[in-house]
Amino acid sequence: MAKPVCYPIGAMKPETTKALYFPRVRLLDPTSGRDEEGALFVDAEGRIAPVPERLPSASRLTIVDRPGLTIVPGLCDVHVHFRDPGATDAEDLVSGSAAAANGGFTRVVTMPNTNPATDTPELVRRARSAQTAVAIYPSACATVGRMGKTCAALETLEQAGAVAFSDDGAMVSDPAVMKVVMLRAKKLGRPVMDHAVLPELSQGGVVRDCPTAQALGLPIFPPEAEVEAVRADIALCRETGCALHLQHLSCAESVELVRAARAEGLPVTAEATPHHLALAAEDIPGNDGNWRMNPPLGTRADVEALRQGVLDGTLTLFATDHAPHTRASKAKGFKTAPFGVIGLETAVGVTWDTMVRQCGMAPLAWAACWVTHPNRLIGLRPPTLEIGAPAEFAVLDLEETWTVDPDRLASKSADTPWAGKTLRGRAVATYRNGRFRTPFL
Ligand code: DOR
Ligand code: ZN
Repeated sequence: MAKPVCYPIGAMKPETTKALYFPRVRLLDPTSGRDEEGALFVDAEGRIAPVPERLPSASRLTIVDRPGLTIVPGLCDVHVHFRDPGATDAEDLVSGSAAAANGGFTRVVTMPNTNPATDTPELVRRARSAQTAVAIYPSACATVGRMGKTCAALETLEQAGAVAFSDDGAMVSDPAVMKVVMLRAKKLGRPVMDHAVLPELSQGGVVRDCPTAQALGLPIFPPEAEVEAVRADIALCRETGCALHLQHLSCAESVELVRAARAEGLPVTAEATPHHLALAAEDIPGNDGNWRMNPPLGTRADVEALRQGVLDGTLTLFATDHAPHTRASKAKGFKTAPFGVIGLETAVGVTWDTMVRQCGMAPLAWAACWVTHPNRLIGLRPPTLEIGAPAEFAVLDLEETWTVDPDRLASKSADTPWAGKTLRGRAVATYRNGRFRTPFL
């Protein structure tokens, strides 16, 4: 195994830049509840400040005066796979972070299904301290080696900077082991994020029943594999009181179980991915490995239930499950390609279009699903556009139409079901740590 590349480590020093001024933008800030037209000024120290009566001279100021821009605090994705170490031909901390920043994110939570698995403080520290385009908050394994047998050294991992525990890619399916994980995570005040799919029920299924599944003779994924996993996880949440976060839900019945658990007052949160919200199994165009993910796309009724779940706050947040895989591995076709699709660079367009434009979700609620709730889950104060706050935001053009060309994404991988499709809405710039990145401005 090659030694993992080391990225520069050290205290993050904000890069002092020129002041930045947006004379007229839409300000969308779930922390202050603002959704209004206004101006935004960032001083040379990188703080949001009142617009000064006399603007700095032209050499010390950047003015962005383009109609139709929206500014939202930096998005936070609590579910990304950066494959570093282990499969850096598919993604690494630098390329994954660039994809995140291009997509409007300023913070991400990396999953620990790296190779070797992120179950040591060294690997947690390495991800946490990488100086990349976004802030990386690693999750660490729930069990040693992600084998599901023995609880990992959660206390040491947390001290090293792990913000959550997960064996994502696999469920911690032994309830006795999961109970220990949850009891120890609870003491640390950290959530357990579970890939709720029971291996003994999924029976090697790769897709929900649909015309393409029939045509290709693909093994069918039974929804019970997820639903029973969710039920078991919620029972352990009730027993232990540990914060439980259910990853990438795909079935109507799972949403129903989470709704009941939250009504009961249990500390359960759950995420919806852009692909599960926008696409159904019946949309799978044929033998294309870029439509294969775990859990697989649901029925139209599932999609509708997920959307309703987001609208009524049952599904608390959006997360991409950005899962890069090499072009060669995905070219193998649906039967044998690895599970997963990338999502960071298409997330804004897909979720805004699906949830706000099509379902009438309030823009501030949409922003809360990308900013407030993800940060709350991992114990961070969300960024805000309030005066005095360190500037950390995304600039969006929610009307821009653009065609997804996988070869022009910042991700090293191309496994997206949106390849060649035209989306409406994208991030065009981000500001973080005194640095203004403008890939599409
Ligand atoms: O589709 C998926 N891909 N689901 C997972 O749970 C893991 C992920 C990956 O690591 O590729
Ligand atoms: Zn997963």
